Amino acid sequence: MIFGLTMLVAFLVTIFVAALADNVNPPSGSQTIDPTKVASTPPFDHPGLRRLPDGSYEAYYVAQVFQFTPSTLTIPAGSKVTFYVTSPDVVHGFEIAKTDVNMMAVPGWVNNATHTFDKPGTYLLVCNEYCGIGHQNMYGTIEVK
Ligand code: CUA
Repeated sequence: MIFGLTMLVAFLVTIFVAALADNVNPPSGSQTIDPTKVASTPPFDHPGLRRLPDGSYEAYYVAQVFQFTPSTLTIPAGSKVTFYVTSPDVVHGFEIAKTDVNMMAVPGWVNNATHTFDKPGTYLLVCNEYCGIGHQNMYGTIEVK
């Protein structure tokens, strides 16, 4: 009993210290945002695609029950795109099938991931975190032409 309790305390202390020491935050969380003001916070007040001077792109997405904004995106083949995503309500997933883009949209955080779309086609963007009754209808598309 004493051994069990000692181990329990040891594990809890380890988790607590590790969380403080590593400043635990969501993977790829690059910046914070007030989740109650997403609709009025640039650039998320106008979600969508931006072309950068070096020819690459930034795509800003808002994930909320039960849709992605923008729902569709069209980009030229060969484009390097950095996706930024946040959520004003609950945790959503942001996974682009057939790519390595797979992150969480967490209220209060902006997450990002970069992918170069070498192959033309239609890519499916899906929410892979259960977020409520309409979760299965939460998807978007990315057209690479
Ligand atoms: Cu959004 Cu599941």
